[in-house]
Amino acid sequence: MAALRALLPVVRRPLRSWPGCAALRPFASEADFKYILTEKKGKGRNVGLIRLNRPKALNALCEGLMAELNQALAAFEADPAVRAIVVTGGEKAFAAGADIKEMQNQTFQDCYSGGFLSHWDQLTRVKKPVIAAVNGYALGGGCELAMMCDIIYAGEKAQFAQPEILLGTIPGAGGTQRLTRAVGKSLAMEMVLTGDRISAQDAKQAGLVSKIFPVDTLVEEAIQCAEKIASNSKLVTAMAKESVNAAFEMTLTEGCKLEKKLFYSTFATEDQKEGMAAFVEKRKANFKGQ
Ligand code: HXC
Repeated sequence: MAALRALLPVVRRPLRSWPGCAALRPFASEADFKYILTEKKGKGRNVGLIRLNRPKALNALCEGLMAELNQALAAFEADPAVRAIVVTGGEKAFAAGADIKEMQNQTFQDCYSGGFLSHWDQLTRVKKPVIAAVNGYALGGGCELAMMCDIIYAGEKAQFAQPEILLGTIPGAGGTQRLTRAVGKSLAMEMVLTGDRISAQDAKQAGLVSKIFPVDTLVEEAIQCAEKIASNSKLVTAMAKESVNAAFEMTLTEGCKLEKKLFYSTFATEDQKEGMAAFVEKRKANFKGQ
């Protein structure tokens, strides 16, 4: 009880504002960014591309970078022209983890009362599909960031790891949870307890990655996948994403119930009528997202 009482002042204190915790606002222009590059890609410019761009530090995920990433995600989420998002890094590194130099002197008090990392999962709240295109290192927070995306494509030299144990800490942005769900307990436990890296090929075999491409075509392939997704109904795509993600949160019975409700809901959309009519009339569907 005494220990609980001692914690109360900490709990009551408002979250200190880590830069990334600031309210999300759409960016005014791409020139605002220091650590990322953004662009609209694809034939219909309907794919939002976010490139982590801090090459000298192998895209270490400093607070400034994470704040910019969240801003760019919010802007693409709010942009009706953008239908899917690709997050990528450089050839050597997708991201070599959270910024160790920023973290090294943090105290428990700083982390706990400041809500350290509390803004990292913004990516998981994006309704539009997000594809991670991973070349090079995806380590620690970099691997966790990739796992928050909906699909992971890897370049053939990509390497994935949760090496936090080698720094005297553990993954703190979902690594122990998402990795375990993705690759199963034995491999996840081995990676988390040893810090060993796995190759793109092993990651694909384990189910962490869906496809592998040559380094120089990876991002284009991810954009093409995003365009394919963008050609489907925006509304129904969001429902499909919600339903797949529910598999990580619910029991099988609950998940199937949610799926059935969402399935029924698609019959209230114009896009379901259009999709099925197009099949019967042997033509391409023209989805309006309604
Ligand atoms: C800060 C980093 C960094 C990181 C690399 N750098 N990773 N800075 N945080 N995570 C910096 C280096 O300090 C160096 O800067 C520059 O990037 C190039 O790195 P080198 O080590 O010289 O390159 P190389 O020899 O090719 O080795 C590459 C590497 C190695 C194997 C990726 O850098 C490495 O092991 N990095 C740390 C990986 C890691 O432990 N990640 C987990 C972080 S903890 P200078 O200024 O010296 O040139 C984490 C916790 C997550 O992510 C918790 C929840 C989010």
